[in-house]
Amino acid sequence: MSGSASPDRMALQVDDLHVSFGNARRGSLIRAVDGVSFSVREGEIFGVIGESGSGKSTLGRCLVGLLTPSGGGVLHGDIDPFKFSRRELNRHRRKYQIVSQDPNAAFDPRMTILQSVCEPLNIVGDGTKAERREKAFEMLDRVALSPEMANRYPHEISGGQKQRANIARALMLDPNVIVCDEVVAALDVSIQADMLNLFARLQEQFGLTYVFISHDLRVVSHISDRVAVMYFGKIVEFGPAHAVIDTPLHPYTEALRSAEPEIIPAGADARRRIILQGEIPSAIAPPSGCRFHTRCPRMRDICRTQQPQQRELLPGRHVACHFAEEMLDERERRSLGLGGSGAGQGASATEALT
Ligand SMILES: Nc1ncnc2c1ncn2[C@@H]1O[C@H](COP(=O)(O)OP(=O)(O)OP(=O)(O)O)[C@@H](O)[C@H]1O
Ligand SMILES: [Mg+2]
Repeated sequence: MSGSASPDRMALQVDDLHVSFGNARRGSLIRAVDGVSFSVREGEIFGVIGESGSGKSTLGRCLVGLLTPSGGGVLHGDIDPFKFSRRELNRHRRKYQIVSQDPNAAFDPRMTILQSVCEPLNIVGDGTKAERREKAFEMLDRVALSPEMANRYPHEISGGQKQRANIARALMLDPNVIVCDEVVAALDVSIQADMLNLFARLQEQFGLTYVFISHDLRVVSHISDRVAVMYFGKIVEFGPAHAVIDTPLHPYTEALRSAEPEIIPAGADARRRIILQGEIPSAIAPPSGCRFHTRCPRMRDICRTQQPQQRELLPGRHVACHFAEEMLDERERRSLGLGGSGAGQGASATEALT
């Protein structure tokens, strides 16, 4: 068990990371992650949000060494895991776990929950059989599953219980970092909050670092310290979770947020919804210039031809939009009660009052 996270140390350092699939010569290259940079401090919960296909899972799998970068890199602390031999990487990877949406994938239907939870330690060969069982019971207890559940088979427990057992399984290897990929997406809304609270509790108890991936802004905002917003393989905005979600500085984040009525503070612009126009572009032929320009309510000519550079607009707040300064100015004017257009040129056609 770690329990010794220090916010002064970086758990992950991601530098200009690219992950591609397919073949450029055959015209089938997909740049699923296309030049992404950020760092995650030890003990931090770093949220990643974006629509389906934006590259979140690809990023998550690369962060734990399951996919190899096609450019740039990822450091685990100050270690480059991609310089390891396969055997060394497998040994190292026990400290970098991923928990995914579908707990069924982690469980063999012919094995009891106890056997499945013990399995990661059986594979690495740690401890005696009795020690592994004892640890499995302890981890099941930490995720609030009774010992009685241990002897059941996967089909004999609920989806929520299965996801808890899945977390217990990941904890068996004393990880430092867990990538949580849509871990509550398959669960009933009524138990999502319980599960998020369990994740938060375990993070504190074990001194874990999380990368928390979700397409659901409410989920990410509930649990994260900082949030990165992904669109088509790129991070368009990242910063402190409450700041990014309360006052977005990228039109895409603004649109995601406006589609979530529950998290818009009462009395704010709750009636102003931004309806994204245009089709989601093809992954093989992404738009030129800013990838969001085909759907952006603030689109102007420059967006078609020039990729916006990511820059730090406010301390810790990084944005890649040609008109981020303009959005910031609008927000400041609004907070001072000076009004402002509320949206850039071209926005009126795509905004709708609901
Ligand atoms: N193994 C693969 N081979 C080819 N293409 C892939 C592979 N994995 C992902 N992709 C493609 O990479 C892009 C990003 O996929 P990814 O699964 O990372 O998105 P995501 O943001 O996790 O989406 P979702 O929210 O639906 O889970 C998609 O266009 C997807 O089709
Ligand atoms: Mg995914």
